[in-house]
Amino acid sequence: MTPVIAYSTAVLAVIAAGLAFRRRRRVHIPLMLSAFVLDVASVLYLQVQRQAVQTAVGKPTTMLMIHVSLAIGTILLYLIVIPLGWRLAVTGKGRPQHRRAAVLFLLFRVGTWVTAFFATPG
Ligand code: HEM
Repeated sequence: MTPVIAYSTAVLAVIAAGLAFRRRRRVHIPLMLSAFVLDVASVLYLQVQRQAVQTAVGKPTTMLMIHVSLAIGTILLYLIVIPLGWRLAVTGKGRPQHRRAAVLFLLFRVGTWVTAFFATPG
């Protein structure tokens, strides 16, 4: 396991804890916002340190393409789930929308983590 994958595993644990506390807003919300900040930080690190996007374009293996697509989708889905969560917190409306977006987000986030094991450039 590379250090970056270990980091990603730790963020996944934060997300799992946030899900376990999904009914306790004062725990759920800070955990999920922390996971978002940590995930964006790792994407920025991979981009600045390793020019991740250029590497993916330069060496377009199928696994790397799938991984990068899932990673980009994960960040976009954060940007959908978070405002929906905010709306739910403030107005009490839109629980099904927040939940549906959350399920899709989780599929993308776990998919990003799994494909990272096969996409690491050797
Ligand atoms: C990736 C980030 C997030 C995921 C995956 C996520 C996921 C979930 C899930 C699965 C539920 C349970 C829904 C249900 O049982 O119907 C939930 C509840 C909730 N979430 Fe999130 N959430 C995220 C971020 C946020 C954020 C950033 C906020 C607010 C700013 C938020 C606010 C809420 C609220 C208010 C509830 C209802 C809690 C209650 O039952 O009182 N969520 N979330």
